[in-house]
Amino acid sequence: MIAAGFIPKAYSNSIEKGSFTWSSPSNIALVKYWGKKEHQIPENPSISFTLNNCKTNTKLSFTKKENDGNLSFEVFLDDEKKDDFKPKIETFFKRIEAYLPFLKGYHFKIETSNTFPHSSGIASSASGMSALALCLMSIEKELIKSDVTLSAVEKSYDENYFIQKASFLARLGSGSACRSLEGDLVVWGKHEEIKGSSDLFGIKYPYEVHSNFKNYQDTILLVDKGKKQVSSTVGHNLMHNHPFAQERFKQAGKNLSDMISILKNGDLNAFIALVESEALTLHAMMMTSMPYFILMKPNTLEIINKIWNYRKTSGSKICFTLDAGANVHVLYPENEAKSVMEFINTELVVFCQKGEYINDKIGFGAKLL
Ligand code: DP6
Repeated sequence: MIAAGFIPKAYSNSIEKGSFTWSSPSNIALVKYWGKKEHQIPENPSISFTLNNCKTNTKLSFTKKENDGNLSFEVFLDDEKKDDFKPKIETFFKRIEAYLPFLKGYHFKIETSNTFPHSSGIASSASGMSALALCLMSIEKELIKSDVTLSAVEKSYDENYFIQKASFLARLGSGSACRSLEGDLVVWGKHEEIKGSSDLFGIKYPYEVHSNFKNYQDTILLVDKGKKQVSSTVGHNLMHNHPFAQERFKQAGKNLSDMISILKNGDLNAFIALVESEALTLHAMMMTSMPYFILMKPNTLEIINKIWNYRKTSGSKICFTLDAGANVHVLYPENEAKSVMEFINTELVVFCQKGEYINDKIGFGAKLL
């Protein structure tokens, strides 16, 4: 499948060398993406909070080389060469080659670091792939800007196109990465009631959001910092021939519809019910696939029960969501930050590996450094 709108005009120009650095955040889905078709097309639309503190910083240096038909790059994480990252990036480059015709004309050095520990069990694919896509887009922008054969109009690179194409490319690296470029809420996947939504890229949530969600907090409890038991790609594929798949995809669409009014009215009780149900449904899908998996750990369940109990006894609007792993994202309104932190420190920290957690909150997307 070729999305013609993202294939650039042939640029006659080339730049000898240079570098760009982008910082891009992670995101946490409220309505989950789980299940995809060919070419990274999601089976259902999803919506996420962009995070603020969990970020990947990526510097992409490029040096012109002869276009011999080969991709050439090296990858470093925290200054250490990481050849085991290469296959995923190679796949990414192959998928996006048609949209960035300069790729084989350069050697790339990718230097990346995360603000969260690599071994935290927090996936860096969303922040990492979006940061890399943005660096590549900066190169394209530069190539077009300095091309003497293009007119002023052709050179004026629309900001909206830049972000949209970066999201489009990021999606081809990792689906959820296309939701990391902007903030504070991003929708990915075509949904009838959301204007401008697309299966090809994420868009900023276009409707009114109640002040209850301003600065919403996310404390990530690190229950299991080990490597994921099931890669998300394998997990997504298990939705093919899954007995409950079609119902699940329908449900996600309906939940996103409901989310529109929840976000508008600031109905936190409805928000809690929807978000927790989404998290448990995601895990239910894994438990009922073939082969089946349980990615939650005993401490994940301990935390969930503690949260439910605290909510009942205190009237707090705290809730949880989960990724495809054992860690728990604790979500709560800003005005409860102090009391919830007290609760976390007295009652939940014991269930975290080495007592570790990460304080985060809603953020506003990627930045060029
Ligand atoms: C459970 O985006 O990591 O976090 O497209 O295969 O790279 P790939 O999958 P990925 O899947 C994320 C799944 C999720 C839910 C979500 O973020 O919506």
